[in-house]
Amino acid sequence: MDNISVSTTDVRIERHANQLSRQLKLLRDKLFPPLAQKTLRTFSSGEAAQMIGVSDGYLRQLSLDGKGPQPELSSNGRRSYTLGQINELRHYMANLKPKDALSYLPWRRPGEKLQTVAVTNFKGGSAKTTTTLYLAQYLALEGYRVLAIDLDPQASLSSMLGVQPEFDLADGDTLYGAIRYDASRKPLKEIVRKTYFDGLDLVPGNLELMEFEHETPRALNDRQKPAELFFRRVGVAIAEVEADYDVVVIDCPPQLGYLTLGAVCAATSLLITIHPQMVDVASMSQFLLMTSDLLSVVRKAGGDLQHDFIKYVVTRHEPFDAPQSQIVALLRSLFGDDVLTATILKSTAIADAGLTKQTLFEIEKGQVRRSTYDRALESVNAANGEVLAGIHKAWGRT
Ligand SMILES: Nc1ncnc2c1ncn2[C@@H]1O[C@H](COP(=O)(O)OP(=O)(O)OP(=O)(O)O)[C@@H](O)[C@H]1O
Ligand SMILES: [Mg+2]
Repeated sequence: MDNISVSTTDVRIERHANQLSRQLKLLRDKLFPPLAQKTLRTFSSGEAAQMIGVSDGYLRQLSLDGKGPQPELSSNGRRSYTLGQINELRHYMANLKPKDALSYLPWRRPGEKLQTVAVTNFKGGSAKTTTTLYLAQYLALEGYRVLAIDLDPQASLSSMLGVQPEFDLADGDTLYGAIRYDASRKPLKEIVRKTYFDGLDLVPGNLELMEFEHETPRALNDRQKPAELFFRRVGVAIAEVEADYDVVVIDCPPQLGYLTLGAVCAATSLLITIHPQMVDVASMSQFLLMTSDLLSVVRKAGGDLQHDFIKYVVTRHEPFDAPQSQIVALLRSLFGDDVLTATILKSTAIADAGLTKQTLFEIEKGQVRRSTYDRALESVNAANGEVLAGIHKAWGRT
């Protein structure tokens, strides 16, 4: 029976197709491990103690007393914790010492509104995605509940966070699924997915996001069916999951389209990334003019354009490059405090992350040269610390 079917051409070709597809999948899984295989490293007890805000000795005693989650013990007796365990310990400490709860578990409290940070600039390659990624991971490591939204059809943020946009997503699995105009719209809760980073969730992106750019003009012209205005749709979708998060971080595409305008209207603050080079800064002045023009139209149509803060962040900074220094000085003299004091340094360790799909937070110490790693991480932490200070200020914390 089998012999007969193998000899017919249709069956033979079908078998080839299946063989090829299986091999391609194996190859892909090897090159780009799927979500299940991407894991976050563990943290030494020293790192964990510092993140939680207790002494290493105290943490050791807890584990000896069998209290809280039990760390993994290596053969040489070193204890290490997963981020999930660190977050459990944050809860444990907050319950143990209710008076100091906020210093262990920084979640927002009643009256502190969800913060949505849109990272934007229409200049391609100005480090929007890198800035979004580092901010999201930084906040998650600090113990906040973070939602990262990938609004860029190129979806590099999603792939850095372990989702392969071309393979892992079905129709409507991006933000488009929650902001589309037709009856297939679904709640954002059904689209959000966990990442391998405890406390950091993702709304992935892929090419289908472009549909929103095409559908919006059509919806605007449709007088029969007045839809929720395009600039409110991102904000309305985010509001559906508001209770689950402290901060939402949005990676905008490098265009000033409807998606970007929606993100800017949904945002409570803006981070505008700047690569300090003359060509980039020249196009930035255009970006600002166009943004202001478009936003004024949106505001007159009823869009919300109140932001708690707008900050420029200098990225891929080379402090020893004279022309760059002049540009940074110019920006500071023009925009003053609106430019973050800290700049994100240009670093091969950060650039390599694009290849290995790991950030400085994820790689083990020793994977890159120590001095380079320390300097780059310090600059990233300083910039993110200033953004967090802005968030705290918006919450009325001192
Ligand atoms: N601090 C840094 N040091 C070195 N390289 C960096 C740094 N920040 C970003 N890069 C690299 O610069 C390139 C552009 O960065 P990124 O993708 O974050 O920019 P983008 O603004 O999101 O780009 P796009 O407009 O295409 O979305 C990437 O290859 C990234 O790895
Ligand atoms: Mg990008």
